[in-house]
Amino acid sequence: MEVIIRPDADAAAELVARVIAKDLRANPHLVLGLATGRTMEKVYRHLVRMHRNEALDFSLCSTFNLDEYVGLSPEDPHSYRHYMNEHLFRQVNIAPLNTHLPNGLAPDLEAECRHYEAAIAKFGGIDLQMLGIGQAGHIGFNEPLSALRSRTRVKALTPTTIQQNGPLFGGEDKVPRRAITMGVGTILDTRRCLLLATGKEKAYIIARAVEGPITALISATSMQLHPRCTVVVDEEAAGELQGVDYYRWIFENEPEWAEFR
Ligand code: GLP
Repeated sequence: MEVIIRPDADAAAELVARVIAKDLRANPHLVLGLATGRTMEKVYRHLVRMHRNEALDFSLCSTFNLDEYVGLSPEDPHSYRHYMNEHLFRQVNIAPLNTHLPNGLAPDLEAECRHYEAAIAKFGGIDLQMLGIGQAGHIGFNEPLSALRSRTRVKALTPTTIQQNGPLFGGEDKVPRRAITMGVGTILDTRRCLLLATGKEKAYIIARAVEGPITALISATSMQLHPRCTVVVDEEAAGELQGVDYYRWIFENEPEWAEFR
């Protein structure tokens, strides 16, 4: 795991977008794992800008999102399918058929979860997975006690998650109680992960996720088991990390990061 600290939220999001753009240019058939949430909106803004101004081409890539609420239709403005259409898919040249999210309206949710895993495998696995982090430390909707080897499945949302997402739905009572999410094991199988967290409200959980012991109570700690996970934070979200001097040294000195400095 490595930690990159950028001065502010926009610079952190831009770095994530530039890593994605670099991988996409190197492999136009990239299988990209996508995430939703407020933090990611800035990343998508940068990707859309790069598509418009720097000819970043999405025509051959495929995408798999981490999760979707159970019971929401793709047209529902609160669904993650709607979020993705608005923030990325409609604004770049991606083929709609190459974009995948779990279907929260599937009559047989367990079968839908199995199909989602099978589809990821059929595309050869996920090359680059974007991740956000919930304030309680979940990735996707892998709520506390999610098994570290879990696969795509239905998860009940915790009161903390419901409370956090309440404002987006116009009230906690309107937040769906369940979601389909890639499992921790599904995420650990991806070839590379980029976890983005910004703002001081993420400082505590980022310190636990990066420097704390691995525990199923905080699914983001599982990223310590991932062979190639980069955590990108702004100064505020880095506020409670112990090893910042070392992390800054890596970014300033390792050749891999030279082009991003
Ligand atoms: C939701 C999503 C997560 C996301 C989290 C944080 O719970 N399922 O994938 O990481 O929100 O969102 P935000 O970026 O708005 O803090």
